[in-house]
Amino acid sequence: MNKRWWKEAVIYQIYTRSFYDSNGDGIGDIEGTRRKLDYLKELGVDVLWISPCFESPNADNGYDVSDYGKIQKEFGNLQDLQALIRDAKDRDIKILLDLVLNHTSDEHPWFVESRKSKDNPYRDFYIWRKGNNGKEPNNWGSFFKGSAWEWDETTGEYYLHTFSTKQPDLNWENKEVRRRFHKIMKYWLDMGIAGFRLDAINYIKKPGNLPDSTLEPDENGCCIDTELYANNPGFTDFIREMHQQVWKEYDIMTVGECAVLTPERALEYVDEKDTLFDMVFNVELAFKRENFTWPDFKQTQRAFIRELDKGGWNSQFIQNHDIARRISMLSDTEQYHTELAKMLAALVHTLPGTPYIYQGEEIGMTNARFHSVDEFDDLFCRKEYYEKLEQGWSEEETLDYLNRYSRDQARTPMQWDDTAYSGFSMVKPWMKLSENYRTVNVQSERKRKNGIFAFYQALISLRKANPVLVYGSFQEYMEDNGELYVYTRTLGEVSWLVTINLTDMGQKLPLLPKWADRKFILGNYEEQSGEHQIVLRPYEAVIWALS
Ligand code: GLC
Ligand code: CA
Repeated sequence: MNKRWWKEAVIYQIYTRSFYDSNGDGIGDIEGTRRKLDYLKELGVDVLWISPCFESPNADNGYDVSDYGKIQKEFGNLQDLQALIRDAKDRDIKILLDLVLNHTSDEHPWFVESRKSKDNPYRDFYIWRKGNNGKEPNNWGSFFKGSAWEWDETTGEYYLHTFSTKQPDLNWENKEVRRRFHKIMKYWLDMGIAGFRLDAINYIKKPGNLPDSTLEPDENGCCIDTELYANNPGFTDFIREMHQQVWKEYDIMTVGECAVLTPERALEYVDEKDTLFDMVFNVELAFKRENFTWPDFKQTQRAFIRELDKGGWNSQFIQNHDIARRISMLSDTEQYHTELAKMLAALVHTLPGTPYIYQGEEIGMTNARFHSVDEFDDLFCRKEYYEKLEQGWSEEETLDYLNRYSRDQARTPMQWDDTAYSGFSMVKPWMKLSENYRTVNVQSERKRKNGIFAFYQALISLRKANPVLVYGSFQEYMEDNGELYVYTRTLGEVSWLVTINLTDMGQKLPLLPKWADRKFILGNYEEQSGEHQIVLRPYEAVIWALS
């Protein structure tokens, strides 16, 4: 297997708005992130993925860009980003920017022009269609609810928005659109960044017969067919062109956020023989909420690992800015909070692929309690709220549901210490704080010898010192067991066994004779597991060396 720096790296995702506020306006900023570099170094991460930091009206918190060449004012300015890149580099930390290529903000000058007239030079930068007998061109739905088409008075046509109405989809068939983005990418790469996370990337190619295609409508009269939006033939040509025009000149990493991924398609996108992405995120797995089950997780992992082993590379994560805190979704008691947080970390760092940590995971941040719809910020979450009420859910049921699953749960301010506003800011933060910040915070975690933070540090340095965790082959045991996750990683002579209890009850682990001679390497319980232990305690995760 080819060695690459980004295979060995551990990546940490920063949602700037909620990470650290340096100037007391209640909003996290880039200078704030810079001031926390020593903390990130202490944790041991190699790359920071910064969620979109470009100029934006923040309809979707930066995933609606109005200027790809500018830093959004609330986050600082270009000098701040340059200082972050420079000071990170001094600590051997790289910076990954998040690029949104499927759509811009409706306030982007291209769209402002585009909507002015049918013969405007920017008209064709977006996707405009005539109405269909006074109605939308077709019945496509948007991921953020409602029709994917928005009527625009000035020219009497509709534009396509697969996300919110404030995020018009770009027309990637237009050569000039592509050329502009190649330039934008070069600009940032020349500033010294280490690559890109590419947002919703496999939606950029639209199906050929756009307005003609109609789907079976859902109860709202419109349809979201991810299959229709994603992976359209010709999509990879756009990516290959980015590679040819831009990426190949730099030693960078790219990771594409992709919906509707089969293992085969994932391999096609990251095949080392071809030149598309280095990694993809399998978002379907991440977005599982009510329907998340461990057997399902194991099965998806198995299929992807098996396929990507043929010559691609995997990514591992269980949390990002789009999903409520996974730890709270899995357990709402505090009893095993530390053990569960560590168990999830063990999974991400020992399964094959590059590990991604989302801010706050390393201290076990949980869901907060939102008491009314006004406390939520996310546009999608608010839509879900009104939709549920319309469907007859009670206020209480709806709030319970959103408290469990809203993506705002991932966006509460980082909990640095137990002072007012959790040390995140000197003033009331832009977003609700989780009540438990007085006990769950960086300051107290760092003091715990066997805390969650210490376990993350241990896992990260273990992976650095032992290539078997990076490049080792994967073999799984007891595949059908929904309570245990058991696998080995093997590289040359070295073979490690990982035994994980996925449940909150003791689980007997049947041991194979060949595992009799094993040495304890790392575990998530304070007392180390004995050499002969065969019962794994609640959420216990142990890494053993076999001989
Ligand atoms: C991606 C982002 C999400 C955003 C959406 C639209 O899924 O992760 O936060 O809302 O794209 O840009
Ligand atoms: Ca600020």
